[in-house]
Amino acid sequence: VHLQTDLSLKPFNTLSIDATATGLAQVADYSELLQALEWAQQRGLPVLPLGEGSNLVVAGDIDGLLLKQGSDKVELLDASDDTVLLKVDAGKDWHQLVQWTLAQGYFGLENLALIPGAVGAAPIQNIGAYGVEVESFISRVHGVDLATGKTLALAHADCQFGYRDSVFKGALRDKVIITSVEMQLSRHSHPRCHYPALNAWLEDHGITDASAQQVFEAVVAIRSSKLPDPAVEPNAGSFFKNPVIPSAQVQALLAQHPEMPVYPLSHTQAKVPAAWLIDRCGWKGQRDGDVGVHPQHALVLVNYGNCSGSELLAFARRITNSVSEGFGVALEIEPRIYG
Ligand code: FAD
Ligand code: EPU
Repeated sequence: VHLQTDLSLKPFNTLSIDATATGLAQVADYSELLQALEWAQQRGLPVLPLGEGSNLVVAGDIDGLLLKQGSDKVELLDASDDTVLLKVDAGKDWHQLVQWTLAQGYFGLENLALIPGAVGAAPIQNIGAYGVEVESFISRVHGVDLATGKTLALAHADCQFGYRDSVFKGALRDKVIITSVEMQLSRHSHPRCHYPALNAWLEDHGITDASAQQVFEAVVAIRSSKLPDPAVEPNAGSFFKNPVIPSAQVQALLAQHPEMPVYPLSHTQAKVPAAWLIDRCGWKGQRDGDVGVHPQHALVLVNYGNCSGSELLAFARRITNSVSEGFGVALEIEPRIYG
């Protein structure tokens, strides 16, 4: 086990927030993982799984052991004429996996290109973008019970996937570390281009009947033009979830703001873009000291220097208050808050 103690977490979170953790263990396999769990248990410390830190707010010093997995193997478990079943270790970089699958002629993940993070974190909030969520490909999630060290496997139905949600944020929160994910991909390309921004980009570039590779390239281009690179402007992607609200409330809001974008989910509920609500409240480009709302995307909070997690959260609270006052809509923070 590679174990560091009393270390700064600045290089381990894409918001680049500086705080310390009691320990960080980087483990290569199951036996090292057990050693790390034992180290934490002997000291009465909680164990917190860590991927690439792209969906984390470090709100203060962490009294605990962060556990990062190094193994990034990809195993072909099964192949038919139509599909392949892959078992991917938690430490594999998500975007690298997307690139690799496309190069092999395994299709499906192209809409999820360029999402930061490790494969082990993908099921946690059921990563999604451009009309696709990762749950469509996940058949099984393998993990280890943090209290007992026993291995476990959850079938898709047991993962309770939803929009930016899963059992790992609910009943199993802080109880399990995911060690690998089984994914079924197609050997035939079925590009999904219905997402408005994707469809518009392909049309603008004269692409009809797009290939999976073209969808991949389109998603990479759209994301690169819209979302700031954390290496340049430290951020955690969307800071809030898009709120799901009752249709009656949507109708009332549309009566006042006919231009508000709405994504209907059912007869009774719809999703509205948090970015639009925040933008309308005048927050885009606003700054207070080292924390601010990105000038090109109202849903992205940026650490412009050395802001602390508590400064960031105080700023976020001012945003949620103003959206609540302006629209009567409650915003929920998307990244996990630690410390
Ligand atoms: P971390 O930030 O390290 O961890 C996040 C949470 O998952 C923590 O609670 C952690 O404990 C837990 N966790 C991590 N690994 C494991 C594991 N192996 N077992 C158990 N728990 C674990 N998300 C989207 O869905 N769609 C997007 O389009 C998108 N765009 C983004 C763009 C940018 C610029 C950024 C910075 C983020 C974006 N995100 C997006 C959020 C982020 O990419 C995802 O949430 C990603 O899955 C986080 O992976 P990570 O390895 O960085 O996780
Ligand atoms: N908008 C504004 N002002 C802005 C930015 C956007 O009014 O400053 C409006 C846009 O015009 C658009 C709407 O808000 O009508 C939605 O914006 P966008 O297409 O950029 O998507 P989003 O809802 O902000 C969601 C996900 C992203 C994902 C994209 C693409 C959530 C919380 N966020 O963003 O995921 O990449 O769609 O599918 O669901 C993440 O989770 O970290 C993330 C980046």
